[in-house]
Amino acid sequence: MKVVKLDPVNPDQDKLLEPAELIKNGELVAFPTETVYGLGADATSDKACLKIYEAKGRPPDNPLIVHINSFEMFFKYTDFHDERILKIMEEIWPGPITLVVKKRNIGDVPTSGLDTVAIRMPGHPIALKLIELSDRPIAAPSANISGRPSPTRASHVISDLGNRIPMIIDGGETFFGLESTVIQPVQDKIFILRPGPFSPEEIEEKFKMKVVLSGTEQHVPRAPGMKYRHYAPNKKLVIANDLDEILKLYKENPNALVLCSKETAEKFEGNKYILGSRENLYEIAKNLFHSFRYLDQSDYSIGIIEKFQEAGIGYAIMNRIKKAASKN
Ligand code: TXA
Ligand code: MG
Repeated sequence: MKVVKLDPVNPDQDKLLEPAELIKNGELVAFPTETVYGLGADATSDKACLKIYEAKGRPPDNPLIVHINSFEMFFKYTDFHDERILKIMEEIWPGPITLVVKKRNIGDVPTSGLDTVAIRMPGHPIALKLIELSDRPIAAPSANISGRPSPTRASHVISDLGNRIPMIIDGGETFFGLESTVIQPVQDKIFILRPGPFSPEEIEEKFKMKVVLSGTEQHVPRAPGMKYRHYAPNKKLVIANDLDEILKLYKENPNALVLCSKETAEKFEGNKYILGSRENLYEIAKNLFHSFRYLDQSDYSIGIIEKFQEAGIGYAIMNRIKKAASKN
């Protein structure tokens, strides 16, 4: 596998010609987005998209996100004309939000045979340039082995997929560290199929529509992928509600690693990994998946993770932590 190192802010266009050529030829290229690294393939080719499922070991009924770089591309591959929502998407995109809408000119492999497509304009210069030079939409799930934490650094992709794909573009650490918010407008409501960096509060404020969180109402649409166990370290992970509970769990498991905020770390003497400040949940989000991988590579036998406030991006942080802990 070849690694192409690029500046994430001002990527050298010449160095993106070879990866773009690979995409055009139906090959796989891993690349950074502002959320997590994606494993990209030509979204207009079922054959190319099939390689994504093979490389990741992804269940065939879990559809991919299609990445675009313009509204021209959006209209070519979707059948969605709600002017009010489109105007809001023009303000939000490029950014960490994925819209599920009726599809057009997209095959059954990237969409798992659904009549909808999950589509997103990523807010990352490398991703946008790669789409432009490939001159087609790029289907890309997170670039991890299915079930593992999403990759937020090139080294994560290399350790999962290094021997399975021809190229990875290394653009350093991703900005948010959590996957995009997936939303689906249905009549006068917005369903959040997967929480992400764009919080339920922000969505409500932007769209001025009723926001429904997946799993809270019956018969609501779901992202097929959300039924799979995800984001999980291989080691056991338990959630602690507060410092007292951390101390109790640590006493029971002296070979544990405590994943916590710097505020908690100041009061806790023991094996710890500092995720960031509780005052800046974006910092916690950015380090979360790396901490899962760190735990797996360490000699600690179990992880104890601090509970964070479920507001703003904290809602998505706790969604990922609960899923990771639900494994055991
Ligand atoms: O931030 C992200 O979204 C990253 C970067 C690479 O863009 N991608 C990502 O893709 O997280 P993936 O495949 O790991 O997650 C895609 C999610 C899955 O839960 C999938 O089920 C859902 O989107 N999805 C895809 N197509 C859908 C559809 N037509 N209807 C409902 N959910 C869909
Ligand atoms: Mg994923």
